[in-house]
Amino acid sequence: MIIQWYPGHMAKAKRLLQESLKLIDVVIEIVDARAPIATRNPDFDTLFQNKDRVIILNKADLADKNENKRWIEYYKANGIKAIECIATHTSKRKNEIALIEEAAKEKVERFKAKGIAKTVRAMIVGIPNVGKSTFINSIAGLNRAQVGDKPGVTKGKQWVKISPYLELMDTPGLLWPKLEDEKLARHVAFIGSVRDDILDVEELAGLLLSCLMTHCKDELCVRYKKIEDGMTESELLCAVAKSRGFILQGGIYDTERAARIVLDEFRGGKIAKITLDKVSDMNKNSEE
Ligand code: G4P
Repeated sequence: MIIQWYPGHMAKAKRLLQESLKLIDVVIEIVDARAPIATRNPDFDTLFQNKDRVIILNKADLADKNENKRWIEYYKANGIKAIECIATHTSKRKNEIALIEEAAKEKVERFKAKGIAKTVRAMIVGIPNVGKSTFINSIAGLNRAQVGDKPGVTKGKQWVKISPYLELMDTPGLLWPKLEDEKLARHVAFIGSVRDDILDVEELAGLLLSCLMTHCKDELCVRYKKIEDGMTESELLCAVAKSRGFILQGGIYDTERAARIVLDEFRGGKIAKITLDKVSDMNKNSEE
């Protein structure tokens, strides 16, 4: 299965991002805790050079708890400020704000030494569907109204004051996934960061089922009782249809309906709490 990101889309996203970056001191990159490698594009290291950076490991509720911890330790060991997050949970985001403040601290202090009260500006960035808007809504809350347009300086951009020296851009920066690696590209599609209407959902769901057989066979077999060891991708999908009684006239399995159910249930965390990209994969990559 070839998974593509429209080049036109990408060019526009890149242009908008570059414009916004001129105004930004801190880049807050949101990644999906289930696929922290696939949802980060290494190309952005160049784009975000000279910016303070923070990683938010979002959707922590859908991923493996132990692996979330390993990822945070991994980032820390590599000198990157990172934190786990469930953006859909109601919270004042104190820990996240403290981490962003910490990332900006050096810059604020430098300006303070010169007698300038510097306002640090931050922007949320990430590939589609990682929870950028949810995070902004959660962190911005009622503060939205406090900082308006700043004509001339920010050209209509909205900023939200989240602490005395910290403002957050109200609109997130859209990043694009790196899809050259087939396995990582699948992970991006499994978690729903590539629009399903450009993909063959049955093929995608078959691949997901096969992947889940290696990650969480027991949970999968409990959820879809007709699944058995050694099944091919299409047999797995038929087994899901059979388990759920998705049978069309003439006794044909409704594999399209089964495919949509599998994708929905996986994305909603109903099958199991799974991390597809493990820290150990990262170590493997660097050893290769
Ligand atoms: P984006 O701006 O990066 O594209 O992502 P967005 O905030 O729109 O979030 C995409 C989906 O992920 C939304 O679900 C949102 O509710 C969900 N989401 C965001 N953060 C978390 C999280 O920490 N945990 C979980 N479990 N889900 C999260 P949706 O079904 O597309 O929309 P909605 O019906 O929930 O609004």
